[in-house]
Amino acid sequence: MNNTEELNTPQLSGNFKKELLQEAADRFNTPLYVYDLDRIQKRFNELKQAFSGRKALVCYALKANSNLSVIKKLASLESGADCVSLGEIKRAIMAGIPKYKIIYSGVGKQDCEIKEAIKLGILFINVEGKEEMLRIEACSKELGIPARVSIRVNPDIDPQTHPYISTGLKENKFGVSIEEAKGMYLYAHNAKFLEPIGIHFHIGSQITKLKPIAESAQKIAQLTRSLLALKIGIKFFDIGGGIGIAYSKENTIDLYDYAQAILEELRGLDVTIVCEPGRFIVGNSGVFLTKVLYQKENQGKHFVIVDGAMNDLIRPSLYEAYHQILSLKNPNAESASYQVDIVGPICESGDYLGKNISLPLLEQGDILAILSAGAYGFSMASNYNTRPRCAEVAIEGGEMRLVRKRECFEDLIALEKEYL
Ligand code: LLP
Repeated sequence: MNNTEELNTPQLSGNFKKELLQEAADRFNTPLYVYDLDRIQKRFNELKQAFSGRKALVCYALKANSNLSVIKKLASLESGADCVSLGEIKRAIMAGIPKYKIIYSGVGKQDCEIKEAIKLGILFINVEGKEEMLRIEACSKELGIPARVSIRVNPDIDPQTHPYISTGLKENKFGVSIEEAKGMYLYAHNAKFLEPIGIHFHIGSQITKLKPIAESAQKIAQLTRSLLALKIGIKFFDIGGGIGIAYSKENTIDLYDYAQAILEELRGLDVTIVCEPGRFIVGNSGVFLTKVLYQKENQGKHFVIVDGAMNDLIRPSLYEAYHQILSLKNPNAESASYQVDIVGPICESGDYLGKNISLPLLEQGDILAILSAGAYGFSMASNYNTRPRCAEVAIEGGEMRLVRKRECFEDLIALEKEYL
């Protein structure tokens, strides 16, 4: 297994040695997210390396994992940030990402958010539609500051991923058609308060095949050429995020092939490549730890009830997503002795972390590691059932530290209690 494969595969290696994870569970209690900052660094550098020798900017997509310490680590590696709310922009800045490396995406931006982004002087705003562009123009005029924009083009290409995270088909709410984009660019080019400096596409997430990305890049590069011919100064070619990771043994996109495919389409174009990876960087750099509470047999079906639930990690419930689950006491899959469903304490049948998982016999208090949980894990957590969101721990060079403390009941009612 080469280095890249090792980094991309869910497994207990590097800072995720079973002894360290057990220590994290003992010290900080469960449920708990643990992140390997060294692995995050390696993943980030792999991607940066893939585009080395080209003008390129990696803008980490904060939505995948917006813990400030994770962002700070990426800031130290010179990452930019792809943000989808003013909150994320503020997190990025707070963690040390320079404003000029921040891009702002998302389908429902509000005036106050647009104005703040313009005032802050971020790199550009990814525009999702004509009406939004007119709002951005109005906001810029009011502020007297021109807005740098990039238009999200929907190439109508199937990314072959889960329908909920597919975004580049015409039936999806994202971006505008190539035809509409042309009109919008012409408008923006002639508008005093709009500076169309970029072009953007993002066709979906957890993409494991290169072809749809390469085809999209081809279509958008063609459009870029026609815009440049009209003297519209496109300087940034934003290829979105979406590179998939291995949750099990699936094949994923080779980074070298990915970069080559993009570079091939951009031949002769003098643009800076921007990419917006989230999952690729943090997905396999995070583990969710949960403790066995009880076991029960219901008419032949064996359930293991754990202290983590769908409010902590919603991916299995929401997308039927698979996450590898190991017992820290005995992580060897070969020693499996029964098949179980790992379920949480929430009162919904959809509250599960794994179904029909083969595991060695478990006992009360055993810690289970749910792998590949670094992306869209904590960032999608909620307080459903008035469950406090769990703590987050980072390990770097074998040293662990708390990077978000466990919420308590007081935190959960803080904004309500004065109205009693
Ligand atoms: N850029 C844009 C415009 C996006 O919408 C997204 C993700 C990204 C970048 C980062 O995509 P990534 O590199 O992480 O695939 N909650 C789902 C994933 C939703 C992705 C939404 N957009 C999940 O748990 O699988």
